[in-house]
Amino acid sequence: MADLDDLREGVNFGLGVADTQRRSFHVKGAGNLAWGMKDRLSRIFNPKTGKAVMLAFDHGFIMGPTSGLERIDLNIVPLIEYADCLMCTRGILRSTIPADTTKPICLRSDAGTSVLTELNDNVLIDIEDAIRLNVSAMAVMLAIGEEAHEAQTVANLYRAVDLASRYDIPVMGVTAVGKQMARDARYFGLASRICAENGANIVKTYYCEGFEKVAAACPVPVVIAGGKKLPEKEALELCYKAVNDGAAGVDMGRNVFQSSSPVAMIQAVHAVVHQGITPEQGYELFLDLSK
Ligand code: 5RP
Repeated sequence: MADLDDLREGVNFGLGVADTQRRSFHVKGAGNLAWGMKDRLSRIFNPKTGKAVMLAFDHGFIMGPTSGLERIDLNIVPLIEYADCLMCTRGILRSTIPADTTKPICLRSDAGTSVLTELNDNVLIDIEDAIRLNVSAMAVMLAIGEEAHEAQTVANLYRAVDLASRYDIPVMGVTAVGKQMARDARYFGLASRICAENGANIVKTYYCEGFEKVAAACPVPVVIAGGKKLPEKEALELCYKAVNDGAAGVDMGRNVFQSSSPVAMIQAVHAVVHQGITPEQGYELFLDLSK
């Protein structure tokens, strides 16, 4: 085992230096992967911009009918056309998402409990069910720094990568934020890197000060969660800063579906992520589309 007593903080992140391995493919870290992997990743990350707006609405698997997700048919189905990818559970996918949507699916592939929240992940979906659902990625959570759950969730990610890679299905590692975990670049950098080192092809984490180091040191694309609902302009600033600091997009939930106008908000987020418009322009767009 490596000597953890001499664990030195990384200092040289090559900020401002483009990833030298990304010449051949638009998704970071995917240049060496097989055709099936590249095809699925290209359904999620737009080949022209290299970015993605993923719409996360898996919250009900631990939160039940939380605000904005009471009726997926009414709340989420109208947003599908504006999202690049849908992140949800198999229950919602089968019951409520029209099967003729051509949007790629990032399937929530582990389980949580309402008691211990999602840090209790120790279940992985049957790979055959993920194949039947024709998913483009599988999402699994990692609870780094959570003594009671870290090993279990790392094992779960390992299992997911072993199974999914047999069928060229990418895996997205989702970094948890527990009560004891600091929300800083050191923590998110550690958690993101551990996801990637254990085989995740995409990492979902949170934006923080120093995020450029988190993104630079992660060898696969990082998308950010939106977190709790913010005023729309602040949420658009979050998207702008994240992409500017190296995120390959967002996997956002509450800041879209809890917005006063979710259809306007997802389009504004899309324009910030893919067109690089400023948060101010994005907010104007949001206001215009909300009328
Ligand atoms: C954590 C997730 C959720 O989908 C995530 O929290 C995204 O949603 P939000 O933008 O509302 O934070 O992956 O398990």
